[in-house]
Amino acid sequence: MKSIDSGREFMKSGFADMDGRRSDQSGGVAQPPLEKPHEQSEKVIKLPRPDAPAIRKSNIHACLKDRRSRRNFSDQPLTAAELSLLLWATQGIDSVGPERCSTFRPVPSAGARHAFETYILANRVAGLEEGIYRYLPLTHELLLTGEMSGEVSRRLTNATFGQRFVARGAAVFVWSCLPYRGEWRYQHEAHKNMLLDAGHVCQNLYLAAEAIEFGTCAIAAYDQEAMDSLLGLDGDGEFVVYLAPVGKPA
Ligand SMILES: Cc1cc2nc3c(=O)[nH]c(=O)nc-3n(C[C@H](O)[C@H](O)[C@H](O)COP(=O)(O)O)c2cc1C
Repeated sequence: MKSIDSGREFMKSGFADMDGRRSDQSGGVAQPPLEKPHEQSEKVIKLPRPDAPAIRKSNIHACLKDRRSRRNFSDQPLTAAELSLLLWATQGIDSVGPERCSTFRPVPSAGARHAFETYILANRVAGLEEGIYRYLPLTHELLLTGEMSGEVSRRLTNATFGQRFVARGAAVFVWSCLPYRGEWRYQHEAHKNMLLDAGHVCQNLYLAAEAIEFGTCAIAAYDQEAMDSLLGLDGDGEFVVYLAPVGKPA
């Protein structure tokens, strides 16, 4: 069967054709920030430590075996401790490498480039006002970036082609990619690797959600422009690559 335009080529490794000497990193260009900067005046909320007590099911075999995509959520909110655990499991930072050139997290990433930002559309998180937040992994905090409203939920449902359960999550994780973080070192080879990285992030969300007896469902069927515009992203230097609502299975 014939390949569908250039899609199959994109899936293959091009490392053999890469000339690492021509990367911005080897050309001495400064590394992009580890985390998207924000204004000091913006509202920041400290998260509780991502401690183990939020975990109800600690048997890894049971978490792997029971993991399924969940699309039916009850009204039960997440606690702040549970959200904290999910954020740490997916993008939390355990240590920063020498000269702040890399970060080490519960998820692996090609070359430790970690090219994602995490946005949380919080519908029901105890102790946290409804809103759109961006996770600040360096300090384990949330930055308030926008208001949640019926209109935002409606736009989210439209942006996911009518998948109503998405907006019904207690919190919706949305991952954007800042592609230059990977391109700086790996040029065109960064793109495939960054998407592989996204898979690890969402799998950790599945397993961590299972461990707190919540559920999630990976979402790749979304309208690019509509999701980027919902979060105010420029669609080039930063754009949405994946999302996942989290809720208590009904
Ligand atoms: C990359 C990816 C994209 C997905 N996109 C969607 C989606 O847009 N909507 C949806 O309902 N499920 C989506 N899913 C969930 C799959 O349908 C689900 O994983 C599959 O049916 C197997 O079921 P299980 O996860 O319960 O084992 C996606 C899963 C992956 C890994």
